[in-house]
Amino acid sequence: MKILVVGSGGREHAIALKLKENPAVEEIFAAPGNGGMAAFCTNVGVKATDVEGMVAFAKEAGVDFAVVTPDDPLVLGMADAMEAAGIPAFGPSKAAAVIEGSKVFSKNLMKKYGIPTAKYETFDDEAAAVAYLKAQNVYPAVVKADGLALGKGVIIAKNEQEAVDAVHSMMSDRVFGESGSHVVIEEYLEGPEVSVLSFTDGQTLVPMISSKDHKRALDNDEGLNTGGMGTIAPNPYYTPEIAKRCMEEIFLPTMAAMNAEGRTFKGCLYFGLMITRDGPKVIEYNCRFGDPETQVVLPLLKSDLLTIFQAVRDGRLSEVPVEFSDESAACVIMASGGYPQKYRTGYEISGLDGMGQAEGVTVYHAGTKLEGGKFFTSGGRVLGVTAVGKDRAEALAKSYAAVEKISFADAHYRRDIGRIR
Ligand code: AMP
Ligand code: GLY
Repeated sequence: MKILVVGSGGREHAIALKLKENPAVEEIFAAPGNGGMAAFCTNVGVKATDVEGMVAFAKEAGVDFAVVTPDDPLVLGMADAMEAAGIPAFGPSKAAAVIEGSKVFSKNLMKKYGIPTAKYETFDDEAAAVAYLKAQNVYPAVVKADGLALGKGVIIAKNEQEAVDAVHSMMSDRVFGESGSHVVIEEYLEGPEVSVLSFTDGQTLVPMISSKDHKRALDNDEGLNTGGMGTIAPNPYYTPEIAKRCMEEIFLPTMAAMNAEGRTFKGCLYFGLMITRDGPKVIEYNCRFGDPETQVVLPLLKSDLLTIFQAVRDGRLSEVPVEFSDESAACVIMASGGYPQKYRTGYEISGLDGMGQAEGVTVYHAGTKLEGGKFFTSGGRVLGVTAVGKDRAEALAKSYAAVEKISFADAHYRRDIGRIR
């Protein structure tokens, strides 16, 4: 089989590597891919958001199955476009991807179907939003742009001034473009965060092993929010009791709600949860695998990923095994110094073998390119150095031992991934 994986991050590297374990897979196209994927995939110069170009390539190359991974092509309807062209695809339809594409949609869905989440109001008028903030007068308050904003459209405002500024920058200055034409203002929740990715075909929902992301750039959760600086799986806060409540109060009701709305979700549905004193609540939904959550979840998956993807697409998920190992995994992101703001690229990476790998770990590439047999930095998040161990401590020790042997100019990584306070 010829498989197409759309995207270029560490998440896509992890998915492609797992798919390759199936002996039926002859060739994997990565579009656009990265340096690490180039070592075992055929990289294709089509942008992940180019729906027409991607379908044209898939037809011409005789792709048998397409995996549409990132949020933006899903929200643009790339999975539908593949199917319309006769190419079976893993990934939700455009109608279902709105669960991530619009926070106004997802908040209203949760309210309508009684799914626990932070209390909120939505606004399409700046003066009304400011009046609401002043009337509420509770801080911190959380201000969110409606649409996709590369994970940056969320501002936790500590006081009225910060909240009013956030609303103004989103609604008037349009710092997140059209995403800011509507905003959500919601209650600030406290508690540990848990990421749960799940497979669902609209009839069955199977949660994957839980994970914990570390989103801030610096140690002790200081610095700016990033796409994620490291992950561990499983998440120690996700007890069997919490898992049971999540299944009953959140996961299955969300699947049913999407069906009731005529927006059946087939693909990977990501639940961003906060375990509050009043129980688990939804912080956000994503219509896709998380990055870098995937880099710790898939190494622990014992079942065949392609078989699961095909079953999800065909609506027979209940017929296939989805089993996880009882070990632990840890991923430490090595980033370009300055990320998530300004950083330089083009530095040679040392400490990797010809496949872009290192001993004792799996190195998932993100912002890298392969040139003349050497790997160079080409983005903010560069590598996700991932290890599996009998417990979290062993996985972290292996991962950090490898990180210390890999280097490039200005490299930055957190030293406290997996530390539980
Ligand atoms: P999101 O893009 O919705 O995942 O938000 C990014 C991050 O902002 C989350 O991972 C949380 O750490 C934080 N956040 C979002 N909403 C809330 C909330 N209502 N209360 C507290 N923190 C939040
Ligand atoms: N790591 C957070 C996300 O993928 O949205």
